[in-house]
Amino acid sequence: MKDKLQRLEKLKKQALQGGGPNKIKAQHAKGKLTARERLNALLDPDSFEEFGMLVTHRSTHFGLDKQKFPGDGVVTGYGTINGRPVYVFSQDFTVLGGSLAEAHAQKICRIMDMALESGIPIIGLNDSGGARIQEGVVSLGGYADIFYRNTLASGIIPQISLVLGPCAGGAVYSPAITDFILMAEGTSYMFVTGPNVVKAVTHEEVSSEDLGGAATHASRSGVAHFTCEDEAALMRTARRLLSYVPASCHEKPPFRPYLTPDDHLRPRLDGLIPVHSAQPYDMREVIMEVVDPLSFLEVHQQYAENILVGFARIGGHAVGIVANQPAHLAGVLDIKASIKGARFVRFCDCFNIPLVVFEDVPGFLPGTDQEWNGIITHGAKLLYAFCEATVPRITVITRKAYGGAYDVMNSKHIGADLNFAWPSAEIAVMGAKGAAEIIFKKEISESPDPESTWRQKEAEYAELFANPYSAAERGYVDEVIPPRLTRLKILRGLEMLQTKRKEPPRRKHGNIPL
Ligand code: HXC
Repeated sequence: MKDKLQRLEKLKKQALQGGGPNKIKAQHAKGKLTARERLNALLDPDSFEEFGMLVTHRSTHFGLDKQKFPGDGVVTGYGTINGRPVYVFSQDFTVLGGSLAEAHAQKICRIMDMALESGIPIIGLNDSGGARIQEGVVSLGGYADIFYRNTLASGIIPQISLVLGPCAGGAVYSPAITDFILMAEGTSYMFVTGPNVVKAVTHEEVSSEDLGGAATHASRSGVAHFTCEDEAALMRTARRLLSYVPASCHEKPPFRPYLTPDDHLRPRLDGLIPVHSAQPYDMREVIMEVVDPLSFLEVHQQYAENILVGFARIGGHAVGIVANQPAHLAGVLDIKASIKGARFVRFCDCFNIPLVVFEDVPGFLPGTDQEWNGIITHGAKLLYAFCEATVPRITVITRKAYGGAYDVMNSKHIGADLNFAWPSAEIAVMGAKGAAEIIFKKEISESPDPESTWRQKEAEYAELFANPYSAAERGYVDEVIPPRLTRLKILRGLEMLQTKRKEPPRRKHGNIPL
């Protein structure tokens, strides 16, 4: 037995070395952790159980028969995060550049299957040169096997992708199908074709960082939901993210007891809306006042800043927040904001996370750029996402709710459960100035003093409609509340709605305007 144990020890030791000390040194020199160091940082201490540590590839082409590494460049298994189980895979760049081929893909597929069958989230740590070139088409097949499973698991278990190195070619599509992408600044990049191909085809000169680094994907493309300055911070973000989501669509999100039960009044909110309705204010301040302290985890922080989305807790209940941001582009809805909001709403709906919406929206952004790029289709995504959501849904209109954007932003008509408005709310077809110009066009043009007639008509329209009371009269708003009561009203609403059961209509699947 002693010999046998020694053999096992030797094999395990070899596997733990990955591509060997030099490759590990090179990995560290790039500011990156190894596959196993990453799992140590991500998972609870001593919780990781590994599968397939001794799996190797079977290829003999191009000298691969002399390059066999136990594990084949990916560490797979399960562990816990804050005591809750997760399945994980972590690609090992020190082994053949973390490249993916038959055995590597099979290992990932196995844990994906197990995660789906058990209703447990899966987290992928990606750091790979892509398809293993020496193994040819089986590498492509391996990717497709993963994409297929990503899609089957979508909406059933949360899937999170950490991009911690290169992620190029078709390899980007597995993270893209998952629910969240987290990227490390300076060391990770994602693109369908790299800078060399870009130069050959379009003659553009661009660095890897500019083309597909963390900053690019956080602010320009919206591909990345979170970026952090280093891998350790990224792991902390991933752990925190998981704390808001249930293990699967069959469960409720975790409840974290809130220990100060009597502090729900928020008088500061009464003074937050500026005197003039065209003046901006920061909707984050509203959110921070309403949610439990330090509980707001913003998603897509640098992308489409005119809408805010993120997770938070209110009295310990996990919620998804969607809020117009008047401090950026007056909180207008445009293509990017619609896509950002829609994706987030759908995630929350998949995983039973109630939605809380703060609304201050002057409408959809006008212009040829928006129209020609399809604001009609993209705006409809947000509308569709809210319409189909069956989770508890609460809206607070803090100020503007104009035009189609009023309907879209979780209005009562499209299925919201509770709609509150502050006394500062303006709920109308359009702003008073524009409305007066259209409906009093003749009076204004024929008046001896068109400017003052316009102002007078504007004031008339504002008096009639720039308030929450017409909507309240029709029951479109359930209650007009002093801002200081906002947290209390939402909390009570969330507790009342905990037993809400609303089944979506039976069908194969809807056809969201993509
Ligand atoms: C096999 C690979 C590899 C790959 C890297 N390596 N990528 N081996 N297949 N795809 C190996 C290298 O040969 C090297 O081995 C080791 O990994 C480390 O690579 P380096 O080049 O030394 O590292 P670095 O300088 O950091 O550059 C990383 C890199 C570069 C930018 C990722 O390696 C690279 O461009 N690789 C090729 C990327 C690529 O074209 N992949 C295919 C994409 S298409 P040694 O033994 O020398 O240390 C694709 C299709 C997927 O993925 C389709 C799915 C549908």
